[in-house]
Amino acid sequence: MDGRILFLPGDGIGPEVLLEARRVLEAVGAIHGHRFEVIEAPIGDSARERFGDPLPEETRALAVEVDAVLVGAVGLAVRPVDGGRVDASRGLLDLRRLLGNHANIRPVAVPDALVDRSPLRAEYVRGVDLVVVRELLGGIYYGRPRGVEDGVAFDTEIYAEEEIRRISVSAFELARTRRKKVTSIDKANVLESSIFWRRIAEEVSRDYPDIEFSSMLVDNCAMQLIRNPRQFDVLLTSNMFGDILSDEAAVLVGSLGMLPSASVGGDIGLYEPVHGAAPDIAGRGTANPIGAILSVAMMLELTFALPEEAGAVRAAVDRVLEDGHGTADLHADGGRAAVSTARMGELIVEALGVAGAAGV
Ligand code: IPM
Ligand code: MG
Repeated sequence: MDGRILFLPGDGIGPEVLLEARRVLEAVGAIHGHRFEVIEAPIGDSARERFGDPLPEETRALAVEVDAVLVGAVGLAVRPVDGGRVDASRGLLDLRRLLGNHANIRPVAVPDALVDRSPLRAEYVRGVDLVVVRELLGGIYYGRPRGVEDGVAFDTEIYAEEEIRRISVSAFELARTRRKKVTSIDKANVLESSIFWRRIAEEVSRDYPDIEFSSMLVDNCAMQLIRNPRQFDVLLTSNMFGDILSDEAAVLVGSLGMLPSASVGGDIGLYEPVHGAAPDIAGRGTANPIGAILSVAMMLELTFALPEEAGAVRAAVDRVLEDGHGTADLHADGGRAAVSTARMGELIVEALGVAGAAGV
């Protein structure tokens, strides 16, 4: 198998974590006989500083001609730019739109080795295995009108029936491959857009009688995620609710640095760790590369249809965690026993080699 992948390291810790993701990708390729060509291009605030655009034309052109795109992190600071517009993340939002990937898949599975690293008690988090299916191209992130006029600021939460329908279908289809349960999240006790969301999600659920379906209010879901997270299998959410709940769900795993994501639905898959640019720790070699590395696993599975290779990466990560290794974010002792970003990448590559040699 040959593949061309566009790496967009971006801002903050993005370049550091993508370096390790690249080493893992190259190691998997070498072990399993695939040739992955990696090209790099700029995105985010660093791109804007250099080229005056958070998604330069060169990056756009490359993004639509590769097999898959892997983003490191985007957005150094939330700061208003001309006209009061918050521009820090526009490059990423434009890229998602350009590729047409409406379904953002964010798995949250707690490995046994991390059960004690979560701030929640082990009995709550052991065995958690859920996935947030987040609508990625609509809602308040893109809705018009938005702006600031005469001392009033406004954004618009807006969803077309077709947008809700297609993300619902993605969630139900995914549930069929899992524990067959979908919980749709809304604020239907208040918002018109949520009442509509609930109605369409319910309609779609009738096409999936084999899937257990329910709707839940977002505030209740925020509580249930901490109180009883094992009840969830697939969480179906709008753009904004999915953004918030996926950060919350990361606490179950012990660190936001652990979580991968895949955005699918268009022709070219877009993969990103869930974490942001973390400028406060950038350049120190302390960032957790596992979110980026597990995003590579999702890419191997979803873009390249290589489930065995994806499984090998996940197994290597699990093994390293079981051996007790972790970056600073996973260490309650303030990081004294932690390994660096580069060492974590190296350990995972080593674990892959062992698995490869054993034919696993
Ligand atoms: C995420 C991030 C982005 C989002 C930001 C950086 C635009 O928080 O992927 O969760 O809100 O989608
Ligand atoms: Mg987010």
